[in-house]
This record gives sequence, structure tokens and C-alpha cells, in this order.
Amino acid sequence: MKRGKGLTFVGDSRIQKYDKPRLSRDYSEFPGRTEEFWPDFLLKEWMTGAVFLIGFLCLTVAHPAPLERMADPTDTGYVPLPDWYFLFLYQILKYTYASGPFNVIGAVIMPGIAFSALLLAPWLDTNKERHWLKRPIASSMMILAVGLIFYTTWESVAYHDWEQQNQQGQIVFSNLDADDPVFQELVRTNCTSCHGGELTGGSGPELIEKEMSVEHVSAFVTNGSENMPAFEDTLTEEEIQAISEFIANLELTAAE
Ligand code: HEC
Repeated sequence: MKRGKGLTFVGDSRIQKYDKPRLSRDYSEFPGRTEEFWPDFLLKEWMTGAVFLIGFLCLTVAHPAPLERMADPTDTGYVPLPDWYFLFLYQILKYTYASGPFNVIGAVIMPGIAFSALLLAPWLDTNKERHWLKRPIASSMMILAVGLIFYTTWESVAYHDWEQQNQQGQIVFSNLDADDPVFQELVRTNCTSCHGGELTGGSGPELIEKEMSVEHVSAFVTNGSENMPAFEDTLTEEEIQAISEFIANLELTAAE
């Protein structure tokens, strides 16, 4: 006897007999095309998973995660960069009418409209057609959105200052003593915002690798430069002297 065919009631002529059984059919109807869950199916799943796992392992060995130095909230010169899949949103924030005083437009309104449209798409577009050419509005919106995402991602990569990006988070080993009162009271309040939390560079240059004399540093701090403020009026001569000695003494040490 064939299994899985079910019963057919024919007693009442007003009830139509189904041509095909409605419910899920028995696997015995597909000879040779079924498999046991255990071990056949699970073994295949496991093998596919293993291929991906080994692939990821190779990738992480070939491209180690780019570690940077410890994050420092006082270092306002550090420009954080989002991961690649958010670069398009990051790029939108650089356009004139989506940044600065218009930040709300770039950060909330534009992505908000896009994501609500995506969320509401099933109600906005009730077209029954399935071929993309027969759904011109939905298809063109999709192509436009994908195009914009590709373009803005490309733009943010092409116009980013990668040299500064790589430099700003670099792990540098120096003899800087973060417990030194000069560093705590003077350097941290006046200099790290531009020169980096460990003076390894931010919007201003790094101050460790350069071999600078005390006079050179104090001249810079006293008079400033085109891009650096003068501290003549805000710091006393003794303070400038202490800062300059501290900075001039900095040097690289071998990696620990
Ligand atoms: C507003 C940001 C800013 C602040 C705050 C700042 N600097 Fe600078 N500093 C810069 C910039 C930008 C340069 C590069 C300027 C140039 O070359 O004209 C620079 C250059 C220097 C140089 C010269 C480096 C060289 O290559 O010769 C020294 C030394 C220096 N800064 C020390 C300090 C010290 C010490 C402090 C704290 C008292 C300080 N800076 C605070 C932005 C800043």
C-alpha cells in the first residue's frame, strides 16, 4: 500500500474531492530525493560551516584587526571613522545642507525618510506584478538608492585623508609619564586636544619623535604659529618652561 495518500471521502457529492493532497506530502513520494536529518543532513551542514569557518580564520590571519591606541575622549583631534557599511551615511553628513546647522537633516531626516519608505514599501506599492520591469517605480527607487549608496561610499573613501587616519591612532611607545604633574595639569589641559592624548598627533603634529630643543618648544608655545594658538597670555613663563622641558624630553622607546 502506498503511504501518505490520505483518505478520500466520496459520500457527499457536494463536497469536492481534492485532486492533490493539500497538506505536506510524505517523503516516500520522492524516492532518492530525501535524506535523513541525522547524520546526512547535519554532516553536510557541518561541512559547509567548516569551510566558512576556515575561510574566516584565514582572513583574520591575513588581515589582522587594525588595532589602535587606547581611545582618549580628551583628544578632540581624533577623527573616528565608521565601518565601511556606514560610510555612505558618514559621507552624507559632509554635504553642506546636511551638516553643521543642518545636521538634523543629514543625521535624522534623510535616513529617516529612506528607512520609513523601506518599512512602508509593502503598503505603498501593492502592485501584484513580480517582474522588476513591470514595477518601474519600485525598481527605479531601488536602483537610485543602491546607486546613491555606492556613490557616497566611494566618495567618502576617495576623499578621506588616509595618511592622517593611519597616523592618528598609531600605537607609539614613548617615555611619556602620564602621572607627571606637568602632564596632568598643563599639557593635558592645553595641548592634547590638538596633539593627541599621548602627544602622538591629532590635528596638530606628533611631538614625540621630533627631537626638539626646550627653546624651540617654548618659542612655539609662547608665540604660536599660523595653526597653533599662542599661549603667551594664558600661561606664565614658568609654566611654559615646564611644559617645554617636558615636551623636549619626550622620545620613542622600544616597543614593550
Ligand atoms: C588648536 C590646536 C593646538 C593646540 C591647543 C596646541 N597646538 Fe601645538 N601645534 C598645532 C599645530 C596645527 C601645529 C603645526 C603648526 C605649524 O607647523 O605651523 C603645532 C605645532 C607645535 C610644535 C612644533 C612642532 C614642530 O614640528 O616643530 C610644538 C613644539 C607644539 N605645537 C607644542 C604645543 C604645546 C606644548 C601645546 C600646549 C601648550 C600646544 N602645542 C597646543 C596645534 C595646536
